[in-house]
Amino acid sequence: MALAADGVSYSRTVRDHIERGVGIPRELYLSQELFAEEMTGIFGRSWLYAGHESQLTQPGQYLTVECGTESVIVARARDGRLTAFSNVCRHRGARLVDPGCGIKQRFVCPYHQWTYRLDGTLQGAPRMPDSFDPGSFPLPTAHVEVWHGLVFVHLGEAAPEPIAELLGTGDALMGAFGIAKTRVAHTISYQVEANWKLVWENAQECYHCNVNHPELIRAFDVAGLNATGRLETKSSPSLDPRVAHGRFPLRPGAVSLTLDGQYASCKPLGAFGGGLEPYTASIHLKPTFALVGCPDYAVVLSERPVSVDCTEVRMSWLVRDDAVDGTDYDLDTLAKVWDETNKQDWGLCERAQLGVRSQSYVPGPLSVDETAVVDFYRAYANLLEAQDL
Ligand code: FES
Ligand SMILES: [Fe+2]
Repeated sequence: MALAADGVSYSRTVRDHIERGVGIPRELYLSQELFAEEMTGIFGRSWLYAGHESQLTQPGQYLTVECGTESVIVARARDGRLTAFSNVCRHRGARLVDPGCGIKQRFVCPYHQWTYRLDGTLQGAPRMPDSFDPGSFPLPTAHVEVWHGLVFVHLGEAAPEPIAELLGTGDALMGAFGIAKTRVAHTISYQVEANWKLVWENAQECYHCNVNHPELIRAFDVAGLNATGRLETKSSPSLDPRVAHGRFPLRPGAVSLTLDGQYASCKPLGAFGGGLEPYTASIHLKPTFALVGCPDYAVVLSERPVSVDCTEVRMSWLVRDDAVDGTDYDLDTLAKVWDETNKQDWGLCERAQLGVRSQSYVPGPLSVDETAVVDFYRAYANLLEAQDL
């Protein structure tokens, strides 16, 4: 069992702090040893958001997913299946492709040109002995599944709980947005100089919103959220503390999370095109993924720790698959609220990271508006405990 500095397990330490109603100790944001354990034991065994299916429609289209020292290629194979396999050559280990996306006929290692098919099997290798059997050197596969058009990979060896089951309690609430019939209009990657847990904690609470998010609160009703927690409608809460979903209350007259509360895209998503009363809602899968749906657009957030004090957060804006940039929506207007809110949030996370580095920092008591932070701590304690940490 891995122990925090005082000889108590990390999970026990987190639970003690939950019971005392305070934040978690500073060491948990700073320990290189714990960070290494989190990467293999938590992120290496979680569903990771890879991208939207619309980015992988043609055979040979691929994208990469990075997780600590690991890199995975997700590709559309010739037979139409989605496949996921290691981005590490079976010869002498070179990365096959750079991080990002593209389209290929086959994956040729840049080092000595071992050549892999779109399903990760080895097609051939130059100047190998007659006894060499390419069939014996496929790239190791990863699990890949799709939920409402969103593609996820899982790097664990054992078969994980299907993503559709894990997120299934959110189907009724999030299904209205027709996410499978959207496309990626825009993506921004942010580097946040803060531990990944500070980024998640920040995303859980709106105790900070009124003062720090002037653009967001024009349409978003913070008092409504804080009064009721995330309003559950149509679906039961998940029993898994990693999963949370609920509505985002809007101010009177607002129909979308935009600067003026009105639609940014004139092509409504999913059931909203058929007259469903507008609402906004979100679903989280801690600690890797969040989706926020509005009647006219959606955003996907995915989080990837880079180091103990740096986290990459990627946000993609989704619009209906037939919405045309410049005609049906203006990209600047579409992206504005979340881009501004994100940058404000990252500034707060970085400020908190600076503070927890100080010897003087002792976690203080949490507000009644921070109950979802405690939910995050519970989920985190369970993830630690599952790894005997
Ligand atoms: S390392 Fe890939 S072909 Fe040699
Ligand atoms: Fe925020």
